[in-house]
Amino acid sequence: MRANDLIAKKRDGQALTEEELAYLIGGYVNDKIPDYQVAAWAMAVYFQGMTAEERAILTKLMVQSGEQIDLASIEGLKVDKHSTGGVGDVTTLILAPILAAMGLKVAKMSGRGLGHTGGTIDKLESIPGFRVDLTRAEFIEQVKRSGLALVGQTGQLVPADKKLYALRDVTATVESIPLIASSIMSKKIAAGSDLIMLDVKVGHGAFMKTFEEAEELAQVMVEIGKQLGRRTAAVITSMDQPLGSMIGNALEVREAIALLQPRAYEGSSAISPAMVVTIELAGRMAYLAGQSTSIDVGKKEALDHLRSGRALAVFRQWIEDQGGNGAVVDEPEKYLPRATEKEFFLANQSGYVQRLEALAVGRAASLLGAGREKKDDTIDMAAGIVLLKRIGDQVEVGDALAELHYNNGEHREEALALLREAYYIAEETPAREPLLLGEV
Ligand code: URA
Repeated sequence: MRANDLIAKKRDGQALTEEELAYLIGGYVNDKIPDYQVAAWAMAVYFQGMTAEERAILTKLMVQSGEQIDLASIEGLKVDKHSTGGVGDVTTLILAPILAAMGLKVAKMSGRGLGHTGGTIDKLESIPGFRVDLTRAEFIEQVKRSGLALVGQTGQLVPADKKLYALRDVTATVESIPLIASSIMSKKIAAGSDLIMLDVKVGHGAFMKTFEEAEELAQVMVEIGKQLGRRTAAVITSMDQPLGSMIGNALEVREAIALLQPRAYEGSSAISPAMVVTIELAGRMAYLAGQSTSIDVGKKEALDHLRSGRALAVFRQWIEDQGGNGAVVDEPEKYLPRATEKEFFLANQSGYVQRLEALAVGRAASLLGAGREKKDDTIDMAAGIVLLKRIGDQVEVGDALAELHYNNGEHREEALALLREAYYIAEETPAREPLLLGEV
């Protein structure tokens, strides 16, 4: 077999067989096939796509390129959720304890943030003492005992993706749905859960800019998951404005703690957008797991666990299990890192907030220190942005729209300019867009 022939076959729109894909991926991981040939194949995939069978085979081969986590010794259904990335997306921090409170087993591996999007591992590390580097035995033991553990992804998981993604990044082949889907699903499948719930974000702040692209990605990922024997479903949700109102690592933990408090669900006050998505995911996962008789019943059960304080208790236990101080739940202000500088960003116009672009807000938070531009950059856990006004809110000239939190103001002017771009205020009231845009 020759890599040259396989590139030509894909270039001409034909599907590669399992043997051929195994030759290509195996050869690449073992340094037998050079970067330039795999880059040419990736570009051929970019233009020609892949069949459903090819996508499943590619994902399986990528999974087999490294370590696979065996969760079989944990009794019950192991569940995982993946978001394609957004700004102020606190859902995992709230969803994981709700699912564990429901009796599902959450053995989760998460990533770090890069660019304008945040990562759950960074957020959890803002809690003093919280360990994201549990040994495999500690990880499994904790899930058995408490129903929930979350660690960083190890370097041994899907090495083929690590190598391929770095190559795609510099050869303009990231934006290929079969390659994105196999990349994401290979990591989820290698991490071992039985049930995978996907939250595909769409909008300014998301990887997928249009609904059609997001829907196609969701369909392809669900199909791969099912073909490889996992219960898989997806929702498509809006990321036109940041999901939560706090953007930055410790700030997002603060918001999650506030949203886990039972008092947030008293009376008839409206549920925040972050909770709309979290409860939707919880309801769907409970139903898919066979735990609830319908999605609506699952959603109601999720709310019951929030109202009763059970989800908050599981969250506290989770922090303590992983070495953090559970008192952070009672006094987040005292135990979480806080920025030395705070500054309001003011409206220069009256009217209604029409747009609040997640991408610009995420980039502004990153410039204040909350994110990293390059993989090895260090982040400032306390830095970020608190949104005081969101789409639909009425504002007067001089009202505070947002609050900047930072320790190092080197880039504050740029951050302010980005916020000026992010907020668009006009006279008319904006149309209400739904958060849940589709499902697969
Ligand atoms: N996220 C991934 O993990 N892989 C991709 O290819 C794109 C986004």
